[in-house]
Amino acid sequence: MVLKLLGLCGSPRKGATEYVLQEALREAATLPGIESELITLRGKRIQPCTGCNYCKSHKTRCHVKDDMQELFDTFIAADAFLVASPVYVMGPTPQLAAFFSRLRPIHHVFPGALRNKAGGAIAVGGTRNGGQEVTVNIIINYLLTRGLVVVGGEIGGYAGGKVWSRDRIEGVGEDAIGMETVRGLARRVAEVALLLQAGKVAAGV
Ligand SMILES: Cc1cc2nc3c(=O)[nH]c(=O)nc-3n(C[C@H](O)[C@H](O)[C@H](O)COP(=O)(O)O)c2cc1C
Repeated sequence: MVLKLLGLCGSPRKGATEYVLQEALREAATLPGIESELITLRGKRIQPCTGCNYCKSHKTRCHVKDDMQELFDTFIAADAFLVASPVYVMGPTPQLAAFFSRLRPIHHVFPGALRNKAGGAIAVGGTRNGGQEVTVNIIINYLLTRGLVVVGGEIGGYAGGKVWSRDRIEGVGEDAIGMETVRGLARRVAEVALLLQAGKVAAGV
């Protein structure tokens, strides 16, 4: 049994966050039975949810025809998740916020779609203490609203991966401690995903 770990990059650029996420996925794939895929919101057309309630009242997926239609299927098909965002004004990017708002049908129509699937959060900021912790916590809340089992990075990493990029990809390599929080998180998400899968088989759910 191979589990798909999906890395979702909330940056509108091919920059430091995508680099960090690639490193995280590489680390997770060192565990047997984990394969990974990175998807990015860069260049994607994703309107934020307008609260029209079409999904809720018609018991269906979102009717807005943009790139979220395909992303929705890709996302719910995965077994585990690493969600990464650059810090924008001390929070996740608007692109990532739009993405999670458009997963609203999971709450109202497909409540079990992400049940018993593990997820972790990564934030990459240009400033040393520029809001990485806040951003990780907001992403964790996004994951909780969509029913995921949130996994942290244990001692040192705590809530998730937090990196100081100094506004450049090369800056990431200079933050050895930050990158260790990312690798630790990646290993834990992969491990918990494997444990959850074994538990599902044992419990027959
Ligand atoms: C609109 C905007 C807002 C930003 N706000 C913050 C911030 O509040 N704190 C911070 O540390 N960095 C902030 N940054 C810097 C980015 O988080 C940083 O450059 C990051 O590495 C960008 O990731 P990327 O290369 O994946 O795009 C901001 C950048 C932009 C473009």
